Amino acid sequence: MPLLAFETSCDETSAAVVHAGRVLSNAVSSQIRLHAEYGGVVPELAAREHLRRLVPIARAALRQAGFGFESITAIAATQGPGLPNALLVGLKAAQAMAFAGRLPVVGIHHHEAHLYSPWIQGDPPAAQFAEFEPNVSLIVSGGHTLLVQVEGLLKHRLLGSTLDDAAGECFDKVGKLMGLSYPAGPEIDRLAGEGNPQAFAFPRPMLREPDDDFSFSGLKTSVRYYLRDHPELLANARALRDLCASVQAAIVEVLVVKTVRAAKRLGVGCVTASGGVTCNRSLRDQLVSACRREGLKLRLAERSLCTDNAAMIGILAEEKLRLNAGRASLDEEIRPGWELQQAGGDALSATSPEPSRSPVRDKR
Ligand code: KG4
Ligand code: ZN
Repeated sequence: MPLLAFETSCDETSAAVVHAGRVLSNAVSSQIRLHAEYGGVVPELAAREHLRRLVPIARAALRQAGFGFESITAIAATQGPGLPNALLVGLKAAQAMAFAGRLPVVGIHHHEAHLYSPWIQGDPPAAQFAEFEPNVSLIVSGGHTLLVQVEGLLKHRLLGSTLDDAAGECFDKVGKLMGLSYPAGPEIDRLAGEGNPQAFAFPRPMLREPDDDFSFSGLKTSVRYYLRDHPELLANARALRDLCASVQAAIVEVLVVKTVRAAKRLGVGCVTASGGVTCNRSLRDQLVSACRREGLKLRLAERSLCTDNAAMIGILAEEKLRLNAGRASLDEEIRPGWELQQAGGDALSATSPEPSRSPVRDKR
């Protein structure tokens, strides 16, 4: 029962085929180069690119999986949150294909897909939901920083989130101040590997607050003021590496300490992490050491599944269909501001087991 999934919430156009918990293909076309010259994602350009790339990417995913469209038995797409016009391309294409093939279509919450992505492991990747244990999960991306308690499969509770900039956004904005190109996270990671994390003492925002929220805009501002007062640092390769290492150390310490502290407080024995920033080597290393020290199990999303991809959308969609927990009607709309808290049960209205035969009508 192969399922074809789409992800178009931001600047990656991705299509994947999954079958019985296994990822058969995961084609990702990144728009990073397109947006780099503007220093960030331009929503209108992103939507236009999704439109241009979606069908070729779908074809590539089907080809890699060795299936024709006629073998596909269900379709899924990211329904929210994300850039409205970008979401629109993926969801409406998915609904059109579902209509044409008389297939069920599932709208997936982007962060809910990240949340369960650490349970997709191996080569080729496969869902390991049989090994699932309750956990505290850190989702860190360019747009979001969330701490979530996952009590069971598809049962989760938001503990905290960022009050301002997301962790990835902080990496990107600080990198921009240093003259690095967008997105700066991977470059800061690389430069930090050769720098001294203790060279500059940057603040650890909200580290001592007892709640599970984060804040990163103050850290960015302190880097801005520091560079305003010491502009000569940017011309010094060694100082730049030390700056990267010091900023990274501040971000990573806050993420790791608050995640582990939440797990201990809640008496949860497992920690997971996902989202683009989970590619960061220091974050991965520090989570490994902190969890080992505290006797916690750790599951990190595989690097290829940390950044946005349709495989995680497809695996979650298959699980939702299996548990009868999610089916979107053919005329359901995108949800650009969809809260994770609503994604467990109430968000996707169940429809009749037979797919609707009525024509797709976009209400916009
Ligand atoms: O999950 P993602 O692909 O897209 C969003 O949903 O935002 O995450 C992209 C973010 C960017 O901010 C990027 O700078 C950051 O993840 N990122 C990293 C690394 N790789 C990607 N940040 C730090 N270190 C990395 N190695
Ligand atoms: Zn994401």
